[in-house]
Amino acid sequence: MTAAEQQQRRSGFDLGKLLAERASERYDLHTRHLNHQLPRMLRTIGFDKVYERAEGAYFWDDEGQDYLDMLAGFGVMGLGRHHPVVRKALHDVLDADLADLTRFDCQPLPGLLAERLLTHAPHLDRVFFGNSGTEAVETALKFARYATRKPRVLYCAHAFHGLTTGSLSVNGEDGFRKGFAPLLPDTPIEMGDLDALERELARGDVAGFVVEPIQGKGVHETPPGFLRAAQELLHRHKALLIADEVQTGLGRTGDFFAYGHEDGVEPDLVCVAKALSGGYVPVGATLGKDWIFRRVYSSMDRVLVHSASFGSNAQAMAAGLAVLAVMEDEEVVANARRTGELLRDRLAALVDRYELLHDVRGRGLMIGIEFGRPSSLGLRSRWAMLQAARKGLFAQMVVVPLLRRHRILTQVSGDHLEVIKLIPPLIIGEREVDRFVEAFTAVMDDAHDGGGLIWDFGRTLVKQAVAGR
Ligand SMILES: Cc1ncc(COP(=O)(O)O)c(C=O)c1O
Repeated sequence: MTAAEQQQRRSGFDLGKLLAERASERYDLHTRHLNHQLPRMLRTIGFDKVYERAEGAYFWDDEGQDYLDMLAGFGVMGLGRHHPVVRKALHDVLDADLADLTRFDCQPLPGLLAERLLTHAPHLDRVFFGNSGTEAVETALKFARYATRKPRVLYCAHAFHGLTTGSLSVNGEDGFRKGFAPLLPDTPIEMGDLDALERELARGDVAGFVVEPIQGKGVHETPPGFLRAAQELLHRHKALLIADEVQTGLGRTGDFFAYGHEDGVEPDLVCVAKALSGGYVPVGATLGKDWIFRRVYSSMDRVLVHSASFGSNAQAMAAGLAVLAVMEDEEVVANARRTGELLRDRLAALVDRYELLHDVRGRGLMIGIEFGRPSSLGLRSRWAMLQAARKGLFAQMVVVPLLRRHRILTQVSGDHLEVIKLIPPLIIGEREVDRFVEAFTAVMDDAHDGGGLIWDFGRTLVKQAVAGR
């Protein structure tokens, strides 16, 4: 018996046994020791399921029923769950017993992942690896400030860039910011407003402008030409364009990076995270130009001036390399474009059929479905009842039966929004499109019928919203 096997035998730790014995306590454990509002919210809307297994774009509950995942763990599961190539890479890296995280050597995997990532952004030269999307953004904010020696960062109204304090300073939503002041004195502009951008730049203290090429909240694309024009203005004022591709990157929008949709856009810094993890190992990456990195790491004394204990760890790097290989081998970006178009077209065709359905938009597999005020009298009063209680309740009314009746997981695209956002794994195909469109059509039929179960649930939501004020 090897020493490792002896150690295993001596240890009382057995993960399988632990789960077998205590997995049934999951909701109680969360209520007692974690964010207690999560189980509370899940119970309230009937989402308190027990999921036991997952593969690709599906997971299964304790009764063996399958669920279609149109949320992908907020975009983390770009390749779906448990992709065999990513799994194998992780097994391989564990079995390799690498001398990882010595911190005083240069391991091969970070260099290889940086090299491979940069092939998708040939105008950039270097990468910093952290552990999450927000850390990728924090890195970009710090690098922009240091490299330009200017303090202020501009961002878009309604933007989301993560929830640590620096990223929160460029968050465009009061709901997230309230109670956490003072934040950094960064400044919002309306997305697409080049005059506002120029006015702020003229003050001479702007380090950069951070922007999601397609805003996650509500799924709003930057207007055509905006990123290119913003880049020109920024560079004229010696400020940087920072593309937050944490959600949109790695093929989500049908291009490897969403900024690539527009010719001539070459951001100075690009933030990546979510899907690079393969759904397994948290990772964040900030890609940037050589001169920016050279300024930040300008001397040997500054070698650790921006660093992270777990940054570049072997598991994250192995997962990232496997993800990028699979994306190429399986033509994942092209699939996201093709399947996204199919799904969007089929949903858009329903806009004329349902008066509550106002818009279907987005690119690739990042799709927003917007609801709005109906025209007929009967539905108008029901709509008004919901709106008076709280904006966003109708979208919630659709999300709930999609899961409870049709076993499809989706989300409302932000607080107080009548928009559902679809960000499924990028590997879905026609079968999943059919299943979603059929289920969505059934829910819309029910909603337009006026008397359906969906409105009973709406009344429950209204009571909760009023009680929660
Ligand atoms: C555009 C964008 N930036 C940053 C983040 C933050 O990423 P993380 O949750 O990994 O910190 C998110 C997360 O949803 C995001 O969508």
